[in-house]
Amino acid sequence: MAQHNLENIDTSQYPHINKGLDGIVAFSTTKSFIDGQKGELIYSGYNIDTLAENATFEEVCFLLWHDRLPNSKELEKLKKDLIAQRELPKTVLDYIKNTNKSAEPMAVLRTAVSMLADYEPIDSDNLPHAIAITAQMPTIIAAFDRVRNGKDIVAPLKEGSTAFNFLYMLNGEKPGDAAEKTMDLCLILHAEHGMNASTFTARTICATESDMFSAVTGAIGALKGPLHGGANTAVMNTLLELDKQGDKADPVAFTKGKLEKKEKIMGFGHRVYKTFDPRAFHLRKMSKQLSEETGHVKLYEWSEAMLKTMKDEKNIDPNVDFFSATVYYSIGIKPDLYTCIFTMSRISGWSAHYMEQAANNRLVRPRALYIGEKNLDWKPVEKR
Ligand code: SDX
Repeated sequence: MAQHNLENIDTSQYPHINKGLDGIVAFSTTKSFIDGQKGELIYSGYNIDTLAENATFEEVCFLLWHDRLPNSKELEKLKKDLIAQRELPKTVLDYIKNTNKSAEPMAVLRTAVSMLADYEPIDSDNLPHAIAITAQMPTIIAAFDRVRNGKDIVAPLKEGSTAFNFLYMLNGEKPGDAAEKTMDLCLILHAEHGMNASTFTARTICATESDMFSAVTGAIGALKGPLHGGANTAVMNTLLELDKQGDKADPVAFTKGKLEKKEKIMGFGHRVYKTFDPRAFHLRKMSKQLSEETGHVKLYEWSEAMLKTMKDEKNIDPNVDFFSATVYYSIGIKPDLYTCIFTMSRISGWSAHYMEQAANNRLVRPRALYIGEKNLDWKPVEKR
C-alpha cells in the first residue's frame, strides 16, 4: 500500500495540494456567507438570527432561490405551488410500500428522489424542479416511516406549512403551534451552509450539465455520512447509549474516554467555525426548553456536560448536529429520521446552488496527486 506522504514525490505539476480542499475557493455564491472566527452566518444578505426570529421556511426557500425576500403575493404563490406538488407518483409510493422495512430512511429517500426524475420533464427551467423536490421530500420521509411501522400512509394536506404538513403526515394528527414552530425553525436553521460536502457534490454534478434530480440524489448520499449530516443521528445514539447505563451514566468520563482513544465525538467540530456555530445557539435554547417541557432534562444536562468537557479538553465547540438531536427527540421523532429532516431543509440550499451553478458554469475537475509506481514491467498472469 502506497504511503500518503509527499516525500520523494515530484509535486511540481500540482501547484495547490490541499487534503480535503481545506480553505480552497471553488465557486462564488450569493447564497450564504460564514465567518468562522466570529460565528456569523448569513443567507443571501440576512443574518441567521434575524431569519430565525422572523422568517418561515417557505420565505427562506424563496430567499435562497431568488436572492430576495418575497412580497405577500409571491409568498402565497410559492406556498400554493409547494402544496400542489406534495403528492407522490404511484410508482414512488409503491416503491416505499414494498422496499425493505429495515432499510435506512436516508437510503430510501435517496432512491425515491432519484425516481422522481422519471416523472418530471428535464428542461432548462429548474425552479419547478426545486419546488417539486422540496414539496415531495417530506411526503417520502413520512410515508416510509409509517410503512415501516405497519401504519397506513397519510396523504399530504392541501393546506398548511411544510413543517405542519410533515408532522401531520408523520404522526397522523395535526401538530400544535409549538411543535410546528420548532420544526419550522429547524428547517430554517439547516437550509443553507456554504460549500459543505453535500452542496459541493450537488454543484459538481450540476457542473457536468446533469439534471437537478441527479445533483440532489448525489447530495443526499453525501449528507448521509456521519462526518456530515449523519452526525445528528449519531449524537442521539450516543445519548441513548448513556441512558442505557442508568445511574452509572457519566457523560464527562465518556467524552474523555473517547478523546483518549482518539475517537471523534459526534456533533462537535467544524471545518469553518472556530467558535460556537451560530445555529447551535438557537438549537441549544430549544433543546433546553423542550427537554424541560417533555421530561428529558437528563439528556439536555448530559449534552451540556459533554459540551463543557469538549471545550475544556480540546477547545472544540458544538456544530448544528449536536443540539438538533435532542430537539427532534423531544418532539417525538425517531433518531434515524434526523438526517432526513436535515435533507428536507437543505434541499432549498442545494437547489439554489444548482441554479446558481447552472447560470455560470464551469466543469469541476480538480487533480489527484499520483503516489503509485510508474511504468512497471508486465508479467503474464501465470508468473505473478
Ligand atoms: C455538518 O461543512 C459544513 O458546513 C457542514 C454542516 C452544514 O451545515 O452543512 O455544518 C453540517 O456536517 C456538521 C458536522 C457534523 N459532523 C460531526 O459532528 C462529526 C464530528 N466532527 C468531526 O469529525 C470534524 O470536526 C468535522 C468532520 C466536522 C470537520 O473535520 P476537519 O475540518 O477535517 O477537522 P479534523 O478532522 O482534521 O480535526 C482537526 C482536529 C483534530 O485534532 P488534532 O489531530 O489536530 O489534535 O480537531 C479534532 C481532530 O481530532 N477534532 C475532534 C472532533 N472534531 C475535530 N476531536 C474529537 N471529536 C470531534 N468531533
